[in-house]
Amino acid sequence: MSDANKRRAALAALDLVPRGATIGVGTGSTVNFFIEALAAQPAHLRRAVSSSAATSARLHAAGVALLDLNEVADLELYIDGADQANPARQLIKGGGGALTREKIIAAAARRFICIVDDSKLVARLGSFPLPIEVIPMARALVARELTARGGRPQWREGFVTDNGNQILDVHGLVISDPPALERELNQLAGIVTVGLFALRPADVLLVGSAQGVRKLGDQE
Ligand code: A5P
Repeated sequence: MSDANKRRAALAALDLVPRGATIGVGTGSTVNFFIEALAAQPAHLRRAVSSSAATSARLHAAGVALLDLNEVADLELYIDGADQANPARQLIKGGGGALTREKIIAAAARRFICIVDDSKLVARLGSFPLPIEVIPMARALVARELTARGGRPQWREGFVTDNGNQILDVHGLVISDPPALERELNQLAGIVTVGLFALRPADVLLVGSAQGVRKLGDQE
């Protein structure tokens, strides 16, 4: 993982943001480079929908006004990072624990641009443990269901999401069909959000590397 490559992807994303647009902003160290670049160009973006308390604080400090998603009828664009991405632009997200609000904003946005460094682009998702947000009373029940499916769930002990829930990080899952697994896990009682973003993948994936930024999606 390289900060320089994360920054390259973040700067390339800023170039794709129309001036004056209202956009959604994700969470994590790659997005923080995007917010840092925004702060240096205050006229570029005045209003945003935030995916977490951490991002809200950074956007506020950068002079960007925060909107409640309920106030925004048409969200043009969402910018966010990911923990892993495959060439189909399907993602694992939630390493920072903000997956639920991230998935809501991704669902609301017409276009989703994901920014990653090249260490995160993989042929098959799953070597990064899959984060799953659960209602606290259902944690053990959901863990048993995941174990029955070949996973090794680990409780992210001491971590509470912005929604007051808990996270299970699931190791060892074989994710051969990401949309099918996302659909299946979405049915389990007690799961709030699965950190697989496959049913609604990114529209564009910007991959930062020492060679520059590679764009996947939007006809490449
Ligand atoms: C936050 O919950 C995650 O979905 C992040 O988007 C993801 O963990 C990427 O974070 P980094 O940019 O810090 O790697």
